[in-house]
Amino acid sequence: MPPESIGLCSSPPSARFNNQILSIVEVSVADGMKTPLNRFRLDGLVAIVTGGGNGIGRATAEILVEAGAAVALIDCDERAVENTKVALLAAGAQVGAYIVDVTDEAAIEASFASVDHQWGRLDILVNNAGISIRHPTMELSLADWNSVVAVNMTAVFLGCRAAARHMLRRGTGSIVNTASIMGLSGGGLYPNVSYQATKGGVVSLIRALAIEWARQGIRVNAVAPTWVKTQFIASLTVLGPL
Ligand SMILES: NC(=O)c1ccc[n+]([C@@H]2O[C@H](COP(=O)([O-])OP(=O)(O)OC[C@H]3O[C@@H](n4cnc5c(N)ncnc54)[C@H](O)[C@@H]3O)[C@@H](O)[C@H]2O)c1
Repeated sequence: MPPESIGLCSSPPSARFNNQILSIVEVSVADGMKTPLNRFRLDGLVAIVTGGGNGIGRATAEILVEAGAAVALIDCDERAVENTKVALLAAGAQVGAYIVDVTDEAAIEASFASVDHQWGRLDILVNNAGISIRHPTMELSLADWNSVVAVNMTAVFLGCRAAARHMLRRGTGSIVNTASIMGLSGGGLYPNVSYQATKGGVVSLIRALAIEWARQGIRVNAVAPTWVKTQFIASLTVLGPL
């Protein structure tokens, strides 16, 4: 399905494609309709969103704030993090911002510990940062393969482990990882083997962690979006079919 035909509801085009998730909720609230947020409150809870500066991560941070959570943004894009932070603060949110490369083990451990220390708890992790380096397999270098594995899979492990370090102490927590429909189907914008393999790997990784940590009170899940019109998908589609 081309991104132009993604229609989540009958809201006007500006609400559909400009910060789409939050905008749709705003439209519904303005209409006085019931939304999931009427029943789904996160007041007093603390969340970390990786890749929170842009796209799906930013929309997720916005919706978490809307539900009442304090949110720490983690991203390597300094300007995007700052812009998102300013927007969330203007909405009255409690927001933290960390300029961190999610593949940096020490920086992830330090930033998660800082969140736990600053707010006294860590309840939710949205492991969302991701990249794609799209080449036909025969032209894909090992360096490019390794970069995608590092961000899309190794960093998911690092984030889950760093979050669990704090969640296990309190016996509760929820981790949501952004996988992709492309990791389940093998299709979509192929050839893109490193992306498809790592997103499929995330699904297996979260299944293993969900079972390992279930008895200790941590829920581990993944979402597998199809196309969402972000800078990420724009950079992939501009290449056209390879
Ligand atoms: N857009 C889609 O159609 C789509 C579909 C399925 C899954 N996804 C997944 O959703 C997630 C978010 O994608 P998006 O479309 O919002 O992309 P995006 O490019 O708009 O946002 C990704 C964010 O991750 C950050 N990031 C990338 N590498 C990082 C690193 N090493 N350290 C810290 N931050 C880093 C970027 O700076 C950016 O802010 C990704 O995991 C992506 O694979 C996207």
